[in-house]
Amino acid sequence: MAHFAINGRWVTVDVPSDTPLLWVIRDQLRMTGTKFGCGAGLCGACTVNIGNDAAFSCQTEVGDVEGKSITTVEGLSPDNSHPLQKAWIAEQVPQCGYCQSGQLMRAAALLKKTPQPTREEIVKHMRSNLCRCGTYNRIIAAVERASRGA
Ligand code: FES
Ligand code: FES
Repeated sequence: MAHFAINGRWVTVDVPSDTPLLWVIRDQLRMTGTKFGCGAGLCGACTVNIGNDAAFSCQTEVGDVEGKSITTVEGLSPDNSHPLQKAWIAEQVPQCGYCQSGQLMRAAALLKKTPQPTREEIVKHMRSNLCRCGTYNRIIAAVERASRGA
């Protein structure tokens, strides 16, 4: 059993405590915005926020989030109005889209702690999330745009 909040709602799941959080989110809770990429902590497709921190949900055991608050891409805003979501649209960031929920959640964690990051801080923070379509420059532009509130 594990009990935690996800996107503002408390849930209890009956799974072994070493189950990867990624599969609890996708298979038990049926939220499929969080993606499976490598399953090995190498790509960032599975990134969610645990509290204010970005985390690889494929590398997080559900037992480790007991009592904690998790945000997935579905919980970023109720109506796609988060500054990052608006900036992502304005900069037309996604290509295939597969990595993008993880990119958004990694960026969201950055802006929570550093609302106005420098370009260098953005590059460093986003480094752990890969994009095989190579949208990196647009991701940086979108994070800069969101940090300006534009
Ligand atoms: S699926 Fe978790 S880091 Fe790649
Ligand atoms: S948009 Fe295709 S992997 Fe990033």
